[in-house]
Amino acid sequence: MFAVHLMAFYCSKLKEDQIKKVDRFLYHMRLSDETLLDIMARFQAEMQKGLGKDTNPTASVKMLPTFVRAIPDGSENGEFLSLDFGGSKFRVLKVQVSEAGKRKVQMESQFYPTPNEIIRGNGSELFDYIADCLADFMRTRGLKHKKLPLGLTFSFPCRQTKLEEGILLSWTKKFKARGVQDTDVVSCLTKAIRKHKDIDVDILALVNDTVGTMMTCAYDDPYCEVGVIIGTGTNACYMEDMNNIDLVEGDEGRMCINTEWGAFGDDGSLEDIRTEFDRELDLGSLNPGKQLFEKMISGLYLGELVRIILLKMARAGLLFGGKKSSALHTKGKIETRHVAAMEKYKEGLANTREILTDLGLEPSEADCIAVQHVCTIVSFRSANLCAAALAAILTRLRENKKLARLRTTVGVDGTLYKIHPQYPKRLHKVVRRLVPNCDIRFLLSESGSTKGAAMVTAVASRVQAQRKQIDHVLALFRLTQEQLKDVQGKMRAEFENGLRKDTHLTATVKMLPTYVCGMPDGTEKGKFLALDLGGTNFRVLLVKIRSGRRSVRMYNKIFAIPLEIMQGTGEELFDHIVQCIADFLDYMGLKGAQLPLGFTFSFPCRQTSIDKATLIEWTKGFKATDCEGEDMVDMLREAIKRRNEFDLDIVAVVNDTVGTMMTCGHEDPNCEIGLIAGTGSNMCYMEEMRNIELLEGDEGKMCINTEWGGFGDNGCLDDIRTQYDKEVDEGSLNPGKQRYEKMTSGMYLGEIVRQILIDLTKQGLLFRGQISERLRTRGIFETKFLSQIESDRLALLQVRRILQQLGLDSTCEDSIVVKEVCGAVSRRAAQLYGAGLAAIVEKRREDQGLEYLNITVGVDGTLYKLHPHFSRILQETVKELAPRCDVTLILSEDGSGKGAALITAVAKRLQQAQKEK
Ligand code: BG6
Ligand code: BG6
Ligand code: GLC
Ligand code: GLC
Repeated sequence: MFAVHLMAFYCSKLKEDQIKKVDRFLYHMRLSDETLLDIMARFQAEMQKGLGKDTNPTASVKMLPTFVRAIPDGSENGEFLSLDFGGSKFRVLKVQVSEAGKRKVQMESQFYPTPNEIIRGNGSELFDYIADCLADFMRTRGLKHKKLPLGLTFSFPCRQTKLEEGILLSWTKKFKARGVQDTDVVSCLTKAIRKHKDIDVDILALVNDTVGTMMTCAYDDPYCEVGVIIGTGTNACYMEDMNNIDLVEGDEGRMCINTEWGAFGDDGSLEDIRTEFDRELDLGSLNPGKQLFEKMISGLYLGELVRIILLKMARAGLLFGGKKSSALHTKGKIETRHVAAMEKYKEGLANTREILTDLGLEPSEADCIAVQHVCTIVSFRSANLCAAALAAILTRLRENKKLARLRTTVGVDGTLYKIHPQYPKRLHKVVRRLVPNCDIRFLLSESGSTKGAAMVTAVASRVQAQRKQIDHVLALFRLTQEQLKDVQGKMRAEFENGLRKDTHLTATVKMLPTYVCGMPDGTEKGKFLALDLGGTNFRVLLVKIRSGRRSVRMYNKIFAIPLEIMQGTGEELFDHIVQCIADFLDYMGLKGAQLPLGFTFSFPCRQTSIDKATLIEWTKGFKATDCEGEDMVDMLREAIKRRNEFDLDIVAVVNDTVGTMMTCGHEDPNCEIGLIAGTGSNMCYMEEMRNIELLEGDEGKMCINTEWGGFGDNGCLDDIRTQYDKEVDEGSLNPGKQRYEKMTSGMYLGEIVRQILIDLTKQGLLFRGQISERLRTRGIFETKFLSQIESDRLALLQVRRILQQLGLDSTCEDSIVVKEVCGAVSRRAAQLYGAGLAAIVEKRREDQGLEYLNITVGVDGTLYKLHPHFSRILQETVKELAPRCDVTLILSEDGSGKGAALITAVAKRLQQAQKEK
């Protein structure tokens, strides 16, 4: 009995002594909770640094955006290929997700070796090898010639700007193939795959193994929002709020961040806890100075750390009676699986003896106990460090969600975690101690990261299909050079039709004589009233022109024309106009003054003199009754009479294009074209009298108001008109009319956009498939919104805000699409304008028999003025289509009121001269 007690005492004393000895030797590796909390705080700061735009470049923890935005929702489906590369094993898999609505995943896989000469050889050979394995897999499974999407799990730090791209920042662990760093691994692999003509694979997603693991676990547990790998290497990812990720545009929802925590401490921030053993291990590694946190934790390094420690202890005479073996001197002889075996609960001691003996050592009982304890300290430190970093992530998640308590699931994978008998328990316990306000479920990823990678690929494949649908719609708006040339040619033909007597009446481009026969010469002077009706604003103006100095002073007032008046009776409309004039005269203190008046009336009118203008038909948003076929000057005069308060001398009626040309011509006599890109679309120009068959006389020139908005009304543009153009036309006040205008001007571009958005929403490609009341509302996209949305300076968030102001509840993805739609529609408009303008300048060049033409165009209109790209695209198009014309566009700063006054001045002078005769 006594002997037994003595024995027991001896044994426990022996154990205690050995443990004390090791504890003393490895004192620095034992981390208190206080230290762990400190490390946790440091890691929190590192995460913040990695997420910041300015601080990221120097951050050691890179916090890489993964472009994985949501965890699986069960709707994923399809058949995918998957590669799992970068862990201890390389696998190729086929994954079948969710068959016939069932939430089920089937996988077939095959392991392939990764020989050192491949993973540390030439980069292109490495990718050729991976592609060969893939091809082999596909051939043996009968998948040749079947087009399959592929998800690539690539377990190294990659900088991504989209899901299907990843620039390798650096190799880690035991990989070091040449010439791959800083290149996109997806394109490297794609290139290698293309060499196999019998397989057809599209790499849709690149995911880190942490991400794959999180997604795998999230498929079974939707609470899972963290993925951790404790295997050959170590790392973690988690779902971060978009508004905390500076490096990616958008603030909505979340995105998975691959922390690459293995590099924590690479900037020296963990030097106080690193030991001489860690430093020695690092020096002997493939990447000295890098992945310092990983080197204290992961499977590739634990065994080696133990070996270094044992060697040092032996050297110090603390183990094996001071004897060492050559195996103990050899790098890599102790592996993680050995550490795990030595720490087994029951067989551990026996395993230790066997392992040490295999290393050529002769361990005593005491040695075995001491070595076992070394293993425990090393692996416990690993779990402690992992726990501290994980606790930091969990705290961040809890704070992001502003919760007092967080319930969450952490998906875990990796051989160390899986094969080490004590590791998971220790890790869980420490994490729970460090973050007592989190309820954490740890979920082992049974099926590796591939299942998750397939989920990501499934989503990517859906997005790709949707992208194709969107591109298909936008392609309808992309005009080729040939198509634009064709438009130019047809427009040119229509100009001729409009000018010729026999075709004039049926021409869609009406080519209306304006009775304006010359440009201002600087001698014009006097005080005039002007009206400017038909653009966005109705204005009444007083214009004072001083001769000689070409100086003009203007006073104006904008008046509203309510919709019910625009579309009421003609009498009401003109009474309203006269009311506005009366208000203006009052306001200017001009009551009773009898001033000559110039009337800018921006609708197609047939004129027989400068002060006679029969409205042919309303365009744009006007539809007052009893006006078409009537003389607008008469109607205005009658309204003035009806009011019986003042008299006005209406001298001239001009189209806004003509007013604009005159306004600009006052400054630049070379200005012989007026262009409006505003609510409506139109152009006027100076034509040779001899070409105007409708009028007598061959001398000099006259301005022709082309009314090109009606171009295409005979169907000649049908080949480029889209279903959306037709819908806009059908919903307009004048169906079938003004087709070119409806493809180009401000009043309609927003409507085209709206029709496209409705269609994309119907197809489930936008606004979550929900067509809101707002989207059904006509006219919500005014030119100014279109212009704002397309501004380059605008961040995505601002686009989203504009859309939200318009009542459209758009996500960031929606906003990108809306911006693209706006861009496609406005680009086509600018190009069509370019084709029209090219037609007229070429005509002018040819008519004058010039090799080269130098001409100025006066332009006005909100579309031209506000849109960020319109004028550039317009000019580029003219240059391409009319290369022998040097066209200068000048913006009319003063509106067409000034031009109308100038015309009035000339007309008044002529009137006077005639009277005197
Ligand atoms: C596997 C995953 O289960 O675990 C891999 O499928 C991952 O993607 C690996 O890289 C990590 O563990 P280890 O120990 O193989 O590096
Ligand atoms: C104004 C002119 O500047 O531009 C108007 O004074 C013209 O005469 C208008 O109709 C065209 O642009 P919008 O965008 O107002 O139709
Ligand atoms: C290394 C890699 C990292 C990976 C981890 C686990 O740390 O850099 O990307 O997730 O190993 O495999
Ligand atoms: C419409 C009108 C036209 C005007 C143009 C620009 O096309 O018909 O007369 O010039 O809009 O306002």
